[in-house]
This record gives sequence, structure tokens and C-alpha cells, in this order.
Amino acid sequence: MEVFIPQMAEQVGQNVTLQGWLNNKRSSGPISFLEIRDGQGFVQAVAAKKDLSETIWAEVEKATQESSVIISGVVAKHPKREGVYELQVTDFKIIQLAHDYPIAKKDHGPDFLMDHRHLWLRSRRQWAILRIRDAIKTAIHAYLHQEKFISVDSPIFTPNACEGATTLFKIPYFDLGDAYLSQSGQLYIEAAIASVGRCYDFGPVFRAEKSKTKRHLTEFWMMDAEGAFMDHEANLKNQEGLVRAIIRHCLANCQAELAILERNIDNLKKADAPFTRYTYTEAIKKLHELGSDIKFGEDLGNDDEGLLTKDSAVPIFIEKWPKSIKPFYMKRDPNNPDLVLNDDLIATEGGGEIIGGSEREDDFDLLSEKIAAEGLLGEEYQWYLDLRRYGAVPHSGFGIGLERVVRWISGTEHIRECIPFPRTIGRLRP
Ligand code: 4AD
Repeated sequence: MEVFIPQMAEQVGQNVTLQGWLNNKRSSGPISFLEIRDGQGFVQAVAAKKDLSETIWAEVEKATQESSVIISGVVAKHPKREGVYELQVTDFKIIQLAHDYPIAKKDHGPDFLMDHRHLWLRSRRQWAILRIRDAIKTAIHAYLHQEKFISVDSPIFTPNACEGATTLFKIPYFDLGDAYLSQSGQLYIEAAIASVGRCYDFGPVFRAEKSKTKRHLTEFWMMDAEGAFMDHEANLKNQEGLVRAIIRHCLANCQAELAILERNIDNLKKADAPFTRYTYTEAIKKLHELGSDIKFGEDLGNDDEGLLTKDSAVPIFIEKWPKSIKPFYMKRDPNNPDLVLNDDLIATEGGGEIIGGSEREDDFDLLSEKIAAEGLLGEEYQWYLDLRRYGAVPHSGFGIGLERVVRWISGTEHIRECIPFPRTIGRLRP
């Protein structure tokens, strides 16, 4: 019977067939230990010369790392490890014999591994990260639908900036001048809420980030959510609900993956509790107490975020930032016109900023003023201003960076491992 590796637990004593790849092989005389990978899991198969025909044993001997194989055998419980199963090989066939797989077991540097990303994805670690990434996406879709958000896709070619002109990628667009790759679909889903009430997009966005950090990509996946009649407070609640749902989903569905990555599960469990909130002003005060020399009106750097969260078991919201350092669309704080009703969410354990959100300016005159003051091309924003001309409502939303969340949940040091094929200032291949 053909099975996937995780189904072997229900087949003890039965003869099953797996299709996959030879992850690793260790031989000791007439016994060969074959580590097999089938996409769903990893398992050890034990081939004994005495139990196999000469042809099959020759095939076992010939097989190299990363050869694709079909293997049959009897499922047995591992003699020592609870919950682990083995295959006692009865048949073995090579589909394609791999020659000199370039990623040998010796330590390779990150550049070598990144140049071989198309192969590196097969490693246990990368397998675990890919699956956690998928689980996070599943959790996001499920939570948002539960909260009555539907998915509405936003365009990637856009005529205007959402998040400031300095990180725009420009592309010639036929006779229409320049197009820009989207930095966030926010403005478009703001339009869609007047049709469907609550919606989100989820896809690649682009930023010409010149910074080489462990947290920046030039192409990354963002989920922008937007809700009509949601104020700043409702926005924070929704973000917290989403992030806690992601944690719970991963804890419930990614135990094997988190174990491979040696992620501290207890810390993740503790993060699923009410989040801390600081205003920007409180955060700056706190940072000064902790020894930072950040000045009021500056953005928080990586070190500041680390300082602020180092003793916190739960993520921290920093809300109500100076309007001077935030984008034009954020609603001004009615209690202090120098501040806006926004938030950044900072993850625990060095995860850094994972969400940026705000209530949106819904007043036509104030928004027009902001657009003009930032020197943005007025005509390109007329459609966006229309949303304040025809049935404007209080509304709020946020964007969550998928790879930032993958990095945090999986406990991965560098964001380049959190997307299948990373794009950074220094990397376009493979
Ligand atoms: O805070 P940002 O810039 O917010 C927006 O783009 C809003 N328009 C979103 C919205 O309100 N709908 O970006 C949101 C998130 C950040 O918190 C971070 O997680 C991620 O996107 N992010 C990046 N991730 C990887 N590489 C980069 N260069 C990133 N820039 C932002």
C-alpha cells in the first residue's frame, strides 16, 4: 500500500510503499540505513543484505544522496524512541540516480547555500520553515474569515506610492509613463471596504530597501486587512486576536517542525496572553530608562525594539506616534494633533516589528492637506480622495509582514530563510 510517512504509525506490521528521496545513507557492512524523505516527513529505512535479492541489494548500494526512490518495507516501531517508526526494506528502486549532490554534509557558508537555494530547500530545517510558513498563512485566512473579512486582491502595478517614495521600484509602463511595484495594497482595500465591509489582501509587495539587515527583503509577502466602522481600539483588538490565533495554530499543527528548529515552545505559549501597550511617548521614556539615546520623534531601531521587549513574554504595541514620521493616510489623534492613531506591534525574543497599522484619516480636507504637504502628485490620489467624498466612514487596518512572522514563530535568525526564494539588495538568483 502506498502511504505518506506520517501515516506509517497506523501501519505497524504492514508492508507499505513510499516514494521520495534518499536524504542520507549510512552503511555498515551488510546493513544500510537509508534516511528517506517524502515531502510529508522523514523516516529511517533499514536494508539488510540477507533479506534482499542481489539485484535489490545492488540498487541499495548504488543509491546516492538525493536520488529519487521507490521503497517498500514492513513498518516497525523504533526499538528505543517512542512515536518513531522505521521501515524494514523489502524492495528498493532508484527512479533517478543523483550525481555529486553539491550540498554535502560539511558546513557551507550562507552564500553557498543561498546560491543553491533551489536544492537547500530540501534540508530538514528549510522543510520545517516552509511548513510553518504555510501554517501561518492558513491561520491568517481562517482567523480573518471567522471575523467576517473576505479576501479582495489588490494590484501589483500601481501609479502611486503607499509607503513613501524612497523605496519604490519603478518600471516603464507602455505609453502610460512609469508604474511602481506595490509597497502595500492598503489604499485599494480601503476602496473595497465600502463594498464588502471587511476585507484583506495577501500577496507579494516590493520595497527598494537599501538596508542589509536580517529583517529586510526587497520582495516580501504582506497581508493588509481593513475594516469599515473599526476604530483604533477595534484595530488593536483584531491584530492581537490574529497574532494569538497564529501562535495557537502553529503550536497545534507544527510540533514536529518546531522541534526540528529547536524553537522554545514555552516562550511561544506564554506569548499567547494579553499584549502589552505603550504609547510612543511612554516607549521613549522607557527606552531612556533602559539606557537608549533615542530622541523623541525618531523611529525605533532594531536595538530599541530589542531593549523594549527583552523582558516581555508577550508582544508589545507601540501606539500613537508623532505624525511627522508616519505616512499621510493615518488619522490624527483627536487629543493631540501632533500624533496619529496608529500602532506598530513588536514581537518577543528579538522578533522585531511584525505589524504596522492605523485608523485612517477619513476627513476629506485633512487628507487633501496631508497629500499636498507631502508633495505627492494630487491627480494620482483623486480616486483615493473619492473614498472621502462618497460615504466616508471611520475605518482602520493594518499590514502584517509574513516573513517577519515566520522568522519570529520559527525562531530563525535571518529573514532570507523565511521565504522560499529571497530577494534582497544583493540577491536576485536563483
Ligand atoms: O509598517 P508597514 O510599512 O505598513 C504598511 O505598509 C501599511 N500600508 C500596512 C497597512 O496598514 N495595511 O509594513 C507592514 C509590515 C511591517 O510591520 C513588517 O512586518 C513588514 O510589513 N515589512 C517588511 N518585511 C520584510 N522586509 C521589508 N523590507 C519590510 N518592510 C515592512
